[in-house]
Amino acid sequence: PVLVVDFGAQYAQLIARRVREAKVYSEIVPHSMPVAEMLAKDPAAIILSGGPSSVYEPGAPQVDAKLFDAGVPVFGICYGFQAMAQALGGTVSHTGQREFGGTVLAARPEAGVLLRELPTEIPVWMSHGDCVTEAPAGFAVTAGSPGAPVAAFEDLAGRRAGVQFHPEVAHTAHGQDMLARFLYDIAGIEPTWTMGNIIDDQVAAIREKVGDKEVICALSGGVDSAVAAALVHKAVGDQLTCVFVDHGLLRAGEAEQVEQDYVAATGIKLKVVDAADRFLTALDGVTDPEDKRKIIGREFIRVFEAAAREVAAAGDVEFLVQGTLYPDVVESGGGTGTANIKSHHNVGGLPDDLKFSLVEPLRTLFKDEVRQLGLSLGLPEAMVWRHPFPGPGLAIRIIGAVSADRLAVLRAADLIAREELTAAGLDRDVWQFPVVLLADVRSVGVQGDGRTYGHPIVLRPVSSEDAMTADWSRLPYDVIARISTRITNEVPEVNRVTLDVTSKPPGTIEWE
Ligand code: XMP
Repeated sequence: PVLVVDFGAQYAQLIARRVREAKVYSEIVPHSMPVAEMLAKDPAAIILSGGPSSVYEPGAPQVDAKLFDAGVPVFGICYGFQAMAQALGGTVSHTGQREFGGTVLAARPEAGVLLRELPTEIPVWMSHGDCVTEAPAGFAVTAGSPGAPVAAFEDLAGRRAGVQFHPEVAHTAHGQDMLARFLYDIAGIEPTWTMGNIIDDQVAAIREKVGDKEVICALSGGVDSAVAAALVHKAVGDQLTCVFVDHGLLRAGEAEQVEQDYVAATGIKLKVVDAADRFLTALDGVTDPEDKRKIIGREFIRVFEAAAREVAAAGDVEFLVQGTLYPDVVESGGGTGTANIKSHHNVGGLPDDLKFSLVEPLRTLFKDEVRQLGLSLGLPEAMVWRHPFPGPGLAIRIIGAVSADRLAVLRAADLIAREELTAAGLDRDVWQFPVVLLADVRSVGVQGDGRTYGHPIVLRPVSSEDAMTADWSRLPYDVIARISTRITNEVPEVNRVTLDVTSKPPGTIEWE
């Protein structure tokens, strides 16, 4: 792999994704990992990412010089660039001239390989206080900027290069070209990380791990479990049984999508458990959001456990498939102890006498790669491009107690919002579009000839990169207007439609 050494800024994941876009497999490692351990992974190259703004900052992570003696190609970015300059005998200065944001690079493409065939003026994204004023011996300087006399350098013989700016961000023009030049032409790596190879590798790995044992998987209706199961099915066919617990809290058409379209596309063996009544009973009268989540999590495990026992009784089941993604792996390895703001529910916590080993075929993949994989495996587009949807489903989008009637109202309103968003061609412009029913709130309206006393619906379209932060989506007013008109016309219980214009933070994406 290409190792991306994470110095604690938010850029490491982005760099790793860009490297993969160049069809080269990459992994993120913490800067605290000893060099020997990095080298044990037999890296094709090492990329030092951005980090704190200054190598002089107290406690700033140092780069172990042994890294440069190993003969592995190295690319330094931003902080990694400065750390590299310092470790190799260049000069990093505290000029007091900071550059944050866009600036223009004065490039000398002909002086090296990294910027080959690029223009002599390149808009780039900078974020630094210190700068490199002198490159280490043996390095050619190929660019400068107003705040960074040395903004790019390379040592072809040593297969090393670095840049002060961030080639991984969209604000830097030709950033992807620069990464490609480093990977292909300086480090000499072949672009072989393609969907076809990912599938072949994973299928082989799953077969090797599972052997002739049976495998079980819980489908949620979401992209991750659907793709994970499809991949496992491709590897071991009918040794896989999927269990779909229909908790009755999905949106219109979603259960059918799993039970019909998905099965038709994959030929997967599916056991459907219709547990809608059980969940409704358990949720009866419950209004507290955390209580709802805990009840749903608990019931889910009980129902899944019973189904798993039945499947297990029929065969030799040793493995459980989970759709864990790479960011989860990186983030839980980071161990930053983020506060538990809402208890997220996933399959986990199975009882001890049901011991399964995990099969997690998406552990090395980012979400966009999982989607590509899903398409390559022939999954329905609607499923592959489905927006994130919370495990507890519509129960946490009904503010107040959950009931069958309220679910029906919310489903109808939600379907209208989704239809209009799709009709406007805006599905990929929003991260997610929760529709919320304020079931305990009523307001006066006039519909048809009479006074009504109905419930408000809240539209909550958001834009986000990773759901950690979000902003409300500026959907065109005419789309919002069509949704509002249709909901108030077609859903008699609703007489008011409102738009949530809160970012996250302070608001979370979901209302509960
Ligand atoms: P919040 O509301 O915390 O949501 O801003 C962040 C993202 O997580 C989703 N979400 C969940 N997903 N189980 C899930 O699988 C859950 O319990 C859960 N709660 C929230 C939410 O839809 C958003 O994408």
